[in-house]
Amino acid sequence: HWQKVIVEKEVESTNKMLKELGESLPDKTVFIASKQWGGTGRLGRSWSSPEGGLWFSLLLKPVLPMEELPLITLTMAAALWEGIYNHLGIQVKIKWPNDIIWEGKKLAGILTGIKGDMDKVDYLIVGIGVNVNNPIPPELEYIGLSLKDIVKRQLNLNHLLLDILNCVEKYYQLFLTNKREGILAINKRHSTILGKAIEISTFKGKEEVIARDIGDDGSLIIEDKSKRIRKVLSGDVSLKKW
Ligand code: BTN
Repeated sequence: HWQKVIVEKEVESTNKMLKELGESLPDKTVFIASKQWGGTGRLGRSWSSPEGGLWFSLLLKPVLPMEELPLITLTMAAALWEGIYNHLGIQVKIKWPNDIIWEGKKLAGILTGIKGDMDKVDYLIVGIGVNVNNPIPPELEYIGLSLKDIVKRQLNLNHLLLDILNCVEKYYQLFLTNKREGILAINKRHSTILGKAIEISTFKGKEEVIARDIGDDGSLIIEDKSKRIRKVLSGDVSLKKW
């Protein structure tokens, strides 16, 4: 169960708040803000967070080795998938490792960070941003979408949050008890990239490959141009349109 829930009107970033306060807060703290003026996304991008969206972060203090980290993001992706499904009955897509997609556009994203170092993870901060009733800035309309645009009505943020948090609890419990099948099954079944040609950028550069599978450790299994099967632990993926 959630140990502590903090609700603020406006902060720079819920991830940043938890990163700073994490030491003094209990495991399983939820930090929610109506608005963020400095929301961040992956790869140092900014994340537009006006009123109407769901912007929250989770503080988790599991004891786990670094290798388990990629799976945390997939755990949250599965929870988001099911939370949205339970709330609205729609089946969204998951773009490995952290995007929730509808008809090619991004509905939600996950940003997993750690405090600590490679040897010892002190705590995890998982930030989740869901576009719900908020407008998408015009310059992002070609890549982003809000849930209200799909169902053509305003949604109740608190009810949606509860449905998502219930699923986070369920999937996080699966993660902690090492029951990965359920987490992986959702990620595979609803993947938007498996079996497709993608462009993946990692620290080594960009490459065109085929996404083949998701590994038990949460990695993406790809087939490269020379038909070699390889494992990618993290990266940024975009679908190739032929
Ligand atoms: C991404 O897709 O790049 C991840 C987006 C994560 C956004 C959320 S909103 C709540 C939390 N606070 C932040 O500053 N970022 C995350």
